[in-house]
Amino acid sequence: MKKLISIAAAGILLLGLAGCAAGGDTPAAGGSSEPKAVGDLVVGFAQVGAESGWRTANTKDVQAAFADAGIELKFSDAQQKQENQIKAIRSYIQQGVDYIAFSPVVETGWDAVLNEAKAAGIPVILTDRAVDSKDTSLYVSFLGSDFIEEGKKAGEWAVEEFADADSVKVVQLEGTTGAAPAIDRAEGFAEVVGKDDKFETVASQTGDFTRAGGLQVMEALLKSNPDIDLVYAHNDDMGLGAIEAIEAAGLVPGVDIKIVTVDAVKDGMQALADGKINFIVECSPLLGAQLVDIVKTLNDGGTVEPRIVTEETTFTKEQAIEALPDRQY
Ligand code: AHR
Repeated sequence: MKKLISIAAAGILLLGLAGCAAGGDTPAAGGSSEPKAVGDLVVGFAQVGAESGWRTANTKDVQAAFADAGIELKFSDAQQKQENQIKAIRSYIQQGVDYIAFSPVVETGWDAVLNEAKAAGIPVILTDRAVDSKDTSLYVSFLGSDFIEEGKKAGEWAVEEFADADSVKVVQLEGTTGAAPAIDRAEGFAEVVGKDDKFETVASQTGDFTRAGGLQVMEALLKSNPDIDLVYAHNDDMGLGAIEAIEAAGLVPGVDIKIVTVDAVKDGMQALADGKINFIVECSPLLGAQLVDIVKTLNDGGTVEPRIVTEETTFTKEQAIEALPDRQY
């Protein structure tokens, strides 16, 4: 029997009475049906890196949530490298942690290490990004945004913004190649603007979710594409890098070239308030409290939903000006 408790802002979590984890046959609480005292729990968290303002905010939020809950969190930074994340997960397995949480840098190539965690009876929780695996028993739950939806929201804004234009030349700054948010944000955006022939993507390149990457790619693209109308950046940081390149080229970001980004971190919101970015689709990094709730629920022998989608909004310039004073990240 399951009982759904839906809490919008702080956490959406299913508490259940059955002892089996929702993602498949992974046992709850490290293979033991006996709950541990919360203070005895150890969780290993394998983070992607520190590539963006979003990532830094996510790390801070997760660390603070576990500290507040009195649960030990072992933390590793993979510096955007899959091999580092795999090493970290193996080390958590060796150390016999109770749970492993991680945000996969890319979607594919996880089955071997996740099978090792499963064999050791350690439940895995995906946070922020998904893995592309047919075997859903390799993880208990995936907590994070709907990246396809985010791409669609960016596309819908673009269609409205350019309603009166005859043609729109688009440059896309992609996130890390192979990462779920890069794949899905491109897909969602293309699904919407692809219905309108006037949108032409003249270039689409990765800036690896970094500001330096956005700057470098945009500098090069401005040289080969003089008539860009719109930059769609898969995160704020790359959009902020593109702003620097556009200004260096003597153009006015937000006016000569419109910019739409994803994330809504403080620096991005400030650029939106200043008129340099035109629209931001929110992607919330505040996943810590929900992750703690998942761990506690599993420890108590409950079940969690296999997919928990983060609630998010969008921002115009006026909304950014209003939201900025209280923005947490
Ligand atoms: O996975 C979330 C994405 O990763 C964020 O949008 C981006 O800023 C980060 O690096």
